[in-house]
Amino acid sequence: MDALTLLSARRSVSRLEGPEPSESQCRTLYRAALRAPDHGALRPWHFIEIKGEGACGRLGDLFADAEQHDTPDATPRRLEGTRAKALRAPLIVVVVARVQPGQPKIPDQEQVISAGCAAHAMLYAAHAQGLGAIWRTGPLAAHPVVRRGLGVREHDVIVGFLYIGHPAGPIKPVDDPDPMDFVERWPG
Ligand SMILES: Cc1cc2nc3c(=O)[nH]c(=O)nc-3n(C[C@H](O)[C@H](O)[C@H](O)COP(=O)(O)O)c2cc1C
Repeated sequence: MDALTLLSARRSVSRLEGPEPSESQCRTLYRAALRAPDHGALRPWHFIEIKGEGACGRLGDLFADAEQHDTPDATPRRLEGTRAKALRAPLIVVVVARVQPGQPKIPDQEQVISAGCAAHAMLYAAHAQGLGAIWRTGPLAAHPVVRRGLGVREHDVIVGFLYIGHPAGPIKPVDDPDPMDFVERWPG
């Protein structure tokens, strides 16, 4: 697949199944991530790899703990639903912006954007390898219980959970809006 086809054809895939992506496929994902634009060469990226049912189950427990922390009377059924969120893929990569605050020329926001670009590159690298992937966040990404459980540092920002696996079914065709609808020529 050539690069421009990849750029215009990528889709998020929410229904994912095993087998787990191989070590070599994962390495390819991370290598793509490291090509993210990076102001000041700070390399503000950290990837937490959660692979396999046992590890994903542990993340699910953490999600459920976070839910129970906020809603002590949450029903077991609701907690089970929250726990199951982490079982939607055989591999989850938590993409963390390892922000170095107080950089004179590189605001925190730029470091977070760089980590977002790394996440985006991983989605493409997944697609290019025939894998499916989807970027998810939600309130759990910022939740203190989840942050603590994953061991992220004070200034770290979790920019997303990338759920990665093999597509479990057909992939929806891409929408194809006119790109010029998003473009303004300036001045007038
Ligand atoms: C920062 C970020 C967070 C997102 N969080 C979620 C999420 O929590 N749940 C979800 O269903 N989609 C989420 N999405 C959207 C999906 O990743 C995806 O882009 C969307 O379903 C559209 O699919 P497409 O990428 O094939 O166009 C998020 C996207 C971004 C960029």
